Amino acid sequence: MSIQQYQALVSDAIAKLDWNRAPQGLYHPIAYALSVGGKHLRPAMMLMTADMYGADINKIMPAALAVEIFHNFTLLHDDIMDHAAKRRGQATVQKKFGENTAILSGDQMLISAYQMLEKTDNALLPELFHVFSDMAEKVCQGQQYDMEFENQYDVIIADYINMITLKTAALIATSLQIGAMLANAPEEHRKELYNYGINLGIAFQLRDDYLDLYATSTAFGKTQGSDVLNNKKTYLLIQAMNMAKGDIKNQLEYWLQPAQGKDPQAKIQAVKEIFDKLQIPQLTLEAIKKYTDKALETLEALPIEADKKADMLQLTNNLLKRNK
Ligand code: IPE
Ligand code: IPE
Ligand code: MG
Ligand code: MG
Ligand code: MG
Repeated sequence: MSIQQYQALVSDAIAKLDWNRAPQGLYHPIAYALSVGGKHLRPAMMLMTADMYGADINKIMPAALAVEIFHNFTLLHDDIMDHAAKRRGQATVQKKFGENTAILSGDQMLISAYQMLEKTDNALLPELFHVFSDMAEKVCQGQQYDMEFENQYDVIIADYINMITLKTAALIATSLQIGAMLANAPEEHRKELYNYGINLGIAFQLRDDYLDLYATSTAFGKTQGSDVLNNKKTYLLIQAMNMAKGDIKNQLEYWLQPAQGKDPQAKIQAVKEIFDKLQIPQLTLEAIKKYTDKALETLEALPIEADKKADMLQLTNNLLKRNK
């Protein structure tokens, strides 16, 4: 089955969730956040993994939904931390309903994710909770580094890779690991799938950073240049700081100083021009390719029949070029 078919199954299951409860002010923003779509990549990949090992995917669905609700919880809080106005082409929860709502509805989503996880009919439930919480803690650690790095100018690529492994790759990798675990895949396979997910997740966040400034389609759905405005230590900015010399270095340092009196659009434009001069987009695309290739290698080495992993190989190649 292709990823689109798993994504459609997840979308249907999400549409059936009932958030029509009191107080509306708590639950309606959750319904809103989940109704504005998203790719449903993580739950779809969990189902795909479980299917590779012959599981009944209906039995995997609660865990798949738990992961998607958890992901959306992180986005509600992330959009507060990143001052984001737009997601999936629509107003973020904090913009539409206010920051306090985004905090509390986000908290409820984390709780709802665990309640969904609880519905899993599998003897491995305690291990499932352990693996899920371990992942959730990593996401918090990654998000903390992401925030701290905004005001830190000696961040190196290795720090960045560690930060995105925690904030993004851990969730993707754990989704695959859970799919494999609930399908009773051999322990060794679970580990390999986790490693695959880590490299895929790193490539995924690199592409997200690239698209934040270089998306050419509105399908990306977020405000262009928000990472630049936040002085986020993305792969792009770290490489630019490494490579800039002389006048370009001075210009970059000027734009990275506190924003008072600076026009946001002028900052985005100027930093983009600096990145272009330093060939940062090309460098970022190469890094995305490198981590995708690592992911592909792990997947190719996984000892299961080729036709069982063909869809996942194709998906991995497609994510390399994704525009949303
Ligand atoms: C956004 O994730 C957050 C990142 C880790 C970059 P997605 O790009 O999967 O977001 P949706 O759910 O499809 O909107
Ligand atoms: C997302 O990083 C990581 C988490 C939400 C945990 P970003 O801050 O880059 O994600 P977007 O771009 O807002 O989706
Ligand atoms: Mg963000
Ligand atoms: Mg963020
Ligand atoms: Mg981003």
